Amino acid sequence: MIESSDLRMTRIPLSQGAGRMPALGFGTLIPDPAVTLTATRDALEAGFRHFDCAERYGNEREVGSALQAGLAAGGIAREDIFVTTKLWNSNHRTERVEPAFQASLARLGLKYLDLYLIHTPFAFQPGDDQDPRDQNGNVIYDHGVTLLDTWKALESLVDHGKCRAIGLSDVGLDDVKPIYEAARIKPAVVQVESHPYLPETELLKYCKEKGIVLLAFAPLGHGMKPGLLEDPVISAIAARVGKTAAQVLLAWAVQRGTALLTTPRTADRARENFDISALPADALDQINRIQTRQRLNPVVTTGVPGFIPKAKGAEQGR
Ligand SMILES: NC(=O)c1ccc[n+]([C@@H]2O[C@H](COP(=O)([O-])OP(=O)(O)OC[C@H]3O[C@@H](n4cnc5c(N)ncnc54)[C@H](OP(=O)(O)O)[C@@H]3O)[C@@H](O)[C@H]2O)c1
Repeated sequence: MIESSDLRMTRIPLSQGAGRMPALGFGTLIPDPAVTLTATRDALEAGFRHFDCAERYGNEREVGSALQAGLAAGGIAREDIFVTTKLWNSNHRTERVEPAFQASLARLGLKYLDLYLIHTPFAFQPGDDQDPRDQNGNVIYDHGVTLLDTWKALESLVDHGKCRAIGLSDVGLDDVKPIYEAARIKPAVVQVESHPYLPETELLKYCKEKGIVLLAFAPLGHGMKPGLLEDPVISAIAARVGKTAAQVLLAWAVQRGTALLTTPRTADRARENFDISALPADALDQINRIQTRQRLNPVVTTGVPGFIPKAKGAEQGR
């Protein structure tokens, strides 16, 4: 448990000397391009130095231009920020990995990435259609490539100096263990849904033992109401320590040793979500004793992504 009073500056070392990840991360899953630009700018201004992207989000260009502008305006060096993006399911074939990586890098306008993740362990039919479906509307999977095949292609990216660390996303222990055991370059990060209703205790224990950073998405339960932001235990702690429910949830995540991704869309919320401070030990215990269990994003068990856009302009997700 981290009990430092300045959680905002927490940086977690990655395995194999691959740098340090700021624990407080800004997620860029924002469907509107204009909001992506302003929210990324506001997050950087508020103090966020860790940015989580994905080719699937369709907004790497906007994130990249907001970052370039923000770095220049704020006198911030590229080395001061940590940027991740993710390989989408339709690019798991080994020959598609490097082109997909290079395309993401070009859209972001960066020379290297701090972290590249396999977005999910499920390979879809290879090609440029990110959401391949059969005539019945079912996802078309690709059984001709294994997760380990794709992992080896990511290892080559590290060998060639194109990204500093690699990892997995939307996985359970059963996916992580075989990759960890077979990998030449071990996963540095595992990104999964995690919050007090889905603490992923067993996975977190395994990650800590192996020196893998657990990077929690949905730390605010995707902001859904009713939900974590209105949980009576969280609200009571927030009132007691003089913080908001969101700040309590984010502090808990950092203090238990995970990194996190949150997506404030306005400048006020960016400042709020960055301005966290350590909770007392009894508050951490109270949160750890919450019994409610809820997974918001079923992809890890079903393989079928949620919130996939059905039509141009529709809300996209994952
Ligand atoms: N690997 C994966 O499959 C996967 C899946 C999902 C997400 N992610 C990553 O994780 C990131 C985080 O997304 P998330 O939805 O999980 O984040 P989250 O922070 O748990 O939820 C974001 C929602 O919470 C609301 N919110 C943010 N700050 C708030 C505050 N201070 N008070 C009240 N409500 C607040 C936002 O509302 P407003 O919109 O009204 O501001 C937004 O609707 C994504 O951007 C993406 O990078 C990864």
